[in-house]
Amino acid sequence: ALEKELQRLDAEFWVSSDKLKKIVSRFRGELERGLKEEGKSIPMNVSWVHSLPSGDEKGKILTVDLGGTNLRVCTVELHGSEPAKGEKYTLTQEEFKLPKDLKTSTAEKLWTHIAGKIGTFLSDQGLDKEYSKDKPMPLGFTFSYPATQDKIDHAVLQRWTKGFDIEGVEGHDAAAQLREQLEARDLPVKLICVINDTVGAMVASAYNDPETIIGTIFGTGCNAAYMAKIESIHKLDKANEQVKHNDSGHMAINCEYGAFDNGHHVLPRTKYDERIDKESPRPGQQTFEKMSAGLYLGEIFRLVLLELVEKGLIFQNQNAEKLKHPYSIDTKLLTQIEDDESPKFKKTRNMFEDTLNLQPEDYEIELSRRLAELIAVRGARLCACGVAAICSLEDIKKGHVAADGSVANKHPKFKKRWATALGEILDWDDEAKKEGKGPIIITSAEDGSGVGCAIIAAMELERRRKDK
Ligand code: BG6
Ligand code: GLC
Repeated sequence: ALEKELQRLDAEFWVSSDKLKKIVSRFRGELERGLKEEGKSIPMNVSWVHSLPSGDEKGKILTVDLGGTNLRVCTVELHGSEPAKGEKYTLTQEEFKLPKDLKTSTAEKLWTHIAGKIGTFLSDQGLDKEYSKDKPMPLGFTFSYPATQDKIDHAVLQRWTKGFDIEGVEGHDAAAQLREQLEARDLPVKLICVINDTVGAMVASAYNDPETIIGTIFGTGCNAAYMAKIESIHKLDKANEQVKHNDSGHMAINCEYGAFDNGHHVLPRTKYDERIDKESPRPGQQTFEKMSAGLYLGEIFRLVLLELVEKGLIFQNQNAEKLKHPYSIDTKLLTQIEDDESPKFKKTRNMFEDTLNLQPEDYEIELSRRLAELIAVRGARLCACGVAAICSLEDIKKGHVAADGSVANKHPKFKKRWATALGEILDWDDEAKKEGKGPIIITSAEDGSGVGCAIIAAMELERRRKDK
């Protein structure tokens, strides 16, 4: 009976080449619709980042990153074309774990917390002495959620994603809310820009690698940014002063494509995906992300295991209570299962024991390994669709896709699977389908929320200086 279940799961989770191509074709259409009008399924948010960096950008910038798991505050010194000790930048950072209950708290609590940490960092680093209200330190804010921006230092949150559910921010300008708390504390900083992590990843990578074409995150969430031709962004008001002054003819677009297929037309959703969506704080949102991103892979795995337990097929006569807790399995565990080469998979056994209080037998280990693979392979193959859709839209034939995030960096097989799937979609030969061999390859992004954000702030300061 277990074998039969496995065959069923295999069929439900496998996405064929043909299906990938169908997904990409619909994906491209949704990207296009997002460029035409506001409020479409994929928002294609205008970022007001007008060009990629030249590599000469300089300055000392404070950055803060609210991504999902951590809050990171950094000082970034950009050395531009005069590297210091061979490095193009120097970075000092402090990372603060986000208290779990903050994710379901209120705007007031969120911004006081963040402003508080910025204050702590400034005094820890002695920056409160170096800067003043008259000579404030420029601040860049990486806010990795979908936001409507009328200008670069403004960001109205469209909706929370990645399980966040903080009251009083959706529909409001996150930049203004942060600024208010910074002012309340009299901190000597000035908010210059609000950016998305994908835009940061693209810009930071382009600072060092001119072949960068896309910045993408495969982490807690999944999303990408690219430089769109101004004329392709039909919804953009061409009479807008900022658009008129755009010299590059391009603008960075934060796709927010985690929202792809919210209308449920093409993605092969399973009942596990449906349940995750239904029980999430924002049902009906982020359909694509909920099938492919790190926050959800472990949860899909848990739901399948739980079903098999309930059918009496695994962990019989054991206490599977812990398996009943939503999100009790971190995606890290899937990574570790697939990575486990210890004799008799001792590491996997220990993880089951420690995390779930379960003692797997050999067939249960075998099953878990197979399942972890099915879920991660589906995720990686779907992730390739987003990038393929951008390349198809922009007619991009070669270049570097700068990727960041825990799945891209920590999953041992993600990049390989992603590359194979991209090659299948784009009809590459077998050699090109190997990781790093095709004309479009995945690279490890440079630090987007630190360095990328600082570069964007420096470019913006320079733009303002010239406009004066
Ligand atoms: C980090 C980047 O490395 O990855 C952040 O600096 C980004 O900008 C993050 O948000 C995404 O990964 P994860 O796995 O934390 O969601
Ligand atoms: C979610 C967010 C998006 C972010 C991505 C990766 O999709 O909505 O803004 O880029 O996660 O962190």
